[in-house]
Amino acid sequence: MEVIIVENEQQAADIVAGSIGLLMAETSAPVIGLATGSTPLAVYAELRSRYESGDLSFADTTAFLLDEYVGIPHHHPESYRSVIRRVFTDHVDLPPSSLHGPDGEDPKNGGARYEAMIESAGGIDIQLLGIGSDGHIGFNEPSSSLASRTRLKSLTAQTRRDNSRYFGDDPDDVPRHVLTQGVATILDARHLILMAFGSSKAGPVAAAVEGPVTAMLPASALQLHQHATVVVDEAASIELRLRDYYRECYANKPAWQRI
Ligand code: GLP
Repeated sequence: MEVIIVENEQQAADIVAGSIGLLMAETSAPVIGLATGSTPLAVYAELRSRYESGDLSFADTTAFLLDEYVGIPHHHPESYRSVIRRVFTDHVDLPPSSLHGPDGEDPKNGGARYEAMIESAGGIDIQLLGIGSDGHIGFNEPSSSLASRTRLKSLTAQTRRDNSRYFGDDPDDVPRHVLTQGVATILDARHLILMAFGSSKAGPVAAAVEGPVTAMLPASALQLHQHATVVVDEAASIELRLRDYYRECYANKPAWQRI
């Protein structure tokens, strides 16, 4: 796993957008996996600006969301489909029919259908990830099987509290259930890029990168992936025991090596 410690979110956005740009230049039908939450917002802003300046086009891109709430309609302003359209895809030339998310309106069949859609697109080239305060990726809460596929999950009280800021600050208004790509679904992507910013993420980041691989901290499954990149700011890096080593590796990386 490569750990990159950046000075700020814009530097992270430049690195991640650069990697997506290279994928687009080299692939005729790129497939990207999108995460919601506040962490990837700077990346989406950077991708929008590269589109606006004519450097990037998403016309041939397919995008898959990581997860979706169950119990709110697609058009709800906080459904992840609505969020990703608002912060990213409505502002670029990605065809609306090329944006896919788990169908939270059909949780019983939604998981298997979503798996089939990802497979028929040829799998995901780059999957963006954030990390929850309890170490979740997507909505794979602690105790999620590392072999899990897209399925219905119940959210923990902690995640509902964390996400209540999008639902009028009332955890009771946060849906209890979600459809999420499983841990194994996420590991199928060819390149995983996990970002984390701020001191509240320092504990989960250190556990994910340097702790044991365990279903109790689903982000630790990234250790099983052969191409995983973790991009963190100073605050999110403070509990990493090998932070000086990671810094040195990145500073001395040969120019021809990509993330
Ligand atoms: C939600 C999403 C995750 C995201 C996490 C962290 O639970 N399902 O994909 O990584 O929130 O959110 P934030 O980036 O706002 O800290």
